[in-house]
Amino acid sequence: MKILFSGIQPTGLLHLGNYFGAVRNWVDIQYDYSCYFSIVDLHAVTIQYDPKVFVGQIFELALGLYSCGLDPEKTKLFIQSEVPGHADLTWIFNTVTPLGELERMTQFKDKARQNRQNINVGLLDYPVLQAADILLYKGEVVPVGQDQVQHIEFAREIARKFNSRYGRTFPECQAKLTKTPRILGLDGESKMSKSQDNYIALLDSRDVVWEKLAPAKTDPARVRRTDPGTPEICNIFNYHKVVTPEEEQQEVAEGCRTAGIGCLDCKKKLLGNLMKVLDPIQERYQELSGKRDYVRQVLDENGAKCRKTAAGTMIEVKEKMGLNPVWKI
Ligand code: AMP
Ligand code: TRP
Repeated sequence: MKILFSGIQPTGLLHLGNYFGAVRNWVDIQYDYSCYFSIVDLHAVTIQYDPKVFVGQIFELALGLYSCGLDPEKTKLFIQSEVPGHADLTWIFNTVTPLGELERMTQFKDKARQNRQNINVGLLDYPVLQAADILLYKGEVVPVGQDQVQHIEFAREIARKFNSRYGRTFPECQAKLTKTPRILGLDGESKMSKSQDNYIALLDSRDVVWEKLAPAKTDPARVRRTDPGTPEICNIFNYHKVVTPEEEQQEVAEGCRTAGIGCLDCKKKLLGNLMKVLDPIQERYQELSGKRDYVRQVLDENGAKCRKTAAGTMIEVKEKMGLNPVWKI
């Protein structure tokens, strides 16, 4: 089986962007690969955060991911900082990484702009840690959203550089996108994200989802109920494309174009279809919340398995580099 690796930051709640851009794909293909999924806490500490709430967020994310349908028996979901190899391999990769490539990364430029008071080296080095995540397990397939494609290409470059200098060690990884690799936020302008207040969380109740949907932006040309609309430019219709069955989508589009239905009718239909996705996730979350010890135990076991795999890679890497290969703990 090919090796699949992906990661997600524990910086808050899971939202529709995470789910339809990445996590749903993880669930759909989890039996086709040998899967590693990492809660990347070391990436998350590159921006300001509160250590007191952070520990809780890490565990909540694990509960959320299992609630989305990751199979605890079949996948290795683990916490990045529990495996020392990630930081170890990052240092090694730093020595084959040209500085200029890191400075060109879109996410670095965005985050540096947003966090001017805290442009730390970790923020710049973020893609190198991400390459180390994937390659420590010799990951080949990396299911992510559109925003991560540049980082995966960079990881492939790093693998090539290391291989050409020290001999073939790492595979060349590929990003795997979903049909919806970029979900826009409720503002209809920027991607849905935790840092912008433009998201619907997977655990939002029906009432909260409605509070967010009701005022959300639609086709700006549809001012009055009687104005015909253009579904192709409406962000709410984008969401329909993700959750609404094909036939009903056609009806909604037709209703919008002819002003047969209003934006609120359209949003109510969306609410119903969205909740068909969210309800089962929320039910599983309730159920798993009562089994916290079990989830903790699975994470511990997965951490131990990952440490073993990672140690194997690090021995190989160090041997090839002429470093002392004896793994001392
Ligand atoms: P993050 O929450 O930034 O760690 O992202 C976790 C995963 O969700 C990554 O694979 C991202 O590419 C994906 N993702 C996050 N936001 C979106 C979005 N708005 N649309 C599509 N994918 C997203
Ligand atoms: N940088 C990714 C994000 O912000 C998270 C991530 C860290 C990741 N390491 C990874 C994704 C390795 C895929 C593979 O979403």
